[in-house]
Amino acid sequence: MKPIQVGLLGIGTVGSGTFEVLNRNQEEIQRRAGRGIEVTMVADLDLARAKSIVGANVQVVDDARKIIANPDIDIVVELIGGYGIAKQLVLEAIGAGKHVVTANKALLAVHGTEIFAAAHKKGVMVAFEAAVAGGIPIIKALREGLTANRIQWLAGIINGTTNFILSEMRDKGLAFDDVLKQAQALGYAEADPTFDIEGVDAAHKVTLMSAIAFGVPVQFDKAYLEGITKLEAQDIRYAEQLGYRIKLLGISKRTAAGIELRVHPCLVPAKRLIANVEGAMNAVMVHADAVGTTLYYGKGAGSEPTASAVIADLVDITRLHTADPLNRVPHLAFQPDAMSSLPILPMADVVTSYYLRMRVADQAGVLAKVTGILANADISIDAVLQREAGEGESHTDLIILTHDCVEAKMSQAITEMQQLSTVLAPIIRIRKEELN
Ligand code: HSE
Repeated sequence: MKPIQVGLLGIGTVGSGTFEVLNRNQEEIQRRAGRGIEVTMVADLDLARAKSIVGANVQVVDDARKIIANPDIDIVVELIGGYGIAKQLVLEAIGAGKHVVTANKALLAVHGTEIFAAAHKKGVMVAFEAAVAGGIPIIKALREGLTANRIQWLAGIINGTTNFILSEMRDKGLAFDDVLKQAQALGYAEADPTFDIEGVDAAHKVTLMSAIAFGVPVQFDKAYLEGITKLEAQDIRYAEQLGYRIKLLGISKRTAAGIELRVHPCLVPAKRLIANVEGAMNAVMVHADAVGTTLYYGKGAGSEPTASAVIADLVDITRLHTADPLNRVPHLAFQPDAMSSLPILPMADVVTSYYLRMRVADQAGVLAKVTGILANADISIDAVLQREAGEGESHTDLIILTHDCVEAKMSQAITEMQQLSTVLAPIIRIRKEELN
């Protein structure tokens, strides 16, 4: 059978990895897919560099639309990124009847509803395994492997840059700014790291996972985002003394009232496997009714790990493209006419537990006042740690772990505690998840 013909839009890190792995494992991939998969066209603005990667047998162009216009191309792989030209090209490729593979989490998290609707109408597939957690097959696991289950929650370390920074802060006791500079020098963080450190990249990824897990539309605009820029090394130390590690988690939970969708730093019990995921590695935990808790771990970025996900999608499409569109795996796991209208909950309605650190005057009655406010709000305390005041110091740090309560109650209690004259600095609040 004639090989499936693929056009790559962009041949940077992921594109070159895709080309390399497809060539290297050609025979094995063909035995799995049932026919050959060949990159026959590449579009890139840097023609010379692109030609040096793909050689003379692949047509290299500087205009992506030439790939879309070529009737021989079956699948377009979008590796440009962002929502600008990438969005136009993906929609044009769909319009031209091409299947699309993309690693572009930002595009799908923000414009997914429009893109999936266009693909559904045209009867083509849009596959995006590489958009979430790089080489870890988490989309496939959520969409197909766990299809028997009612998924209850998922929580993931889905941004390698921030996990590297947090690991270094913990290992070396360094401040966030110092580790960020180091990470940039080592190439672990971008020159403009905003998307990573402010939690935007993780929110794109958890938005996609949430849609597939719960059968709701992608709704990035409703996700709660908090990055790691304000995290202090002392909180990582105190958390450790209490048996926890701090990780930037993307969390999505199903509750009776709606779906929680949030990214923020989070205390996780140090004994959980996910708490021990270090450096730039990624991991996702999924809790579902039949299977219980499962954990997926691996490289979340990089040339060949991400290429592994891109090629898995190419093989899937190769196997499925002759199938009747109505009998293919739905883009978002659930049939388009069976999506749930469960709302994404505002952060004020989220239920979680908390770590609070307050700088307090070292005087009689301070603890009683603070715990009194928590008791009045019906917030139950799990543990208290008080740093011994240093020689000549008139203040100390009070650390409180709470049991679960609704965020709005906690925010109100923090406002009241902050007004006590004996609370001497802004109260630090970090959310906590037991993940059990
Ligand atoms: N910037 C991402 C990370 C990699 O640090 O994990 C691609 O999503």
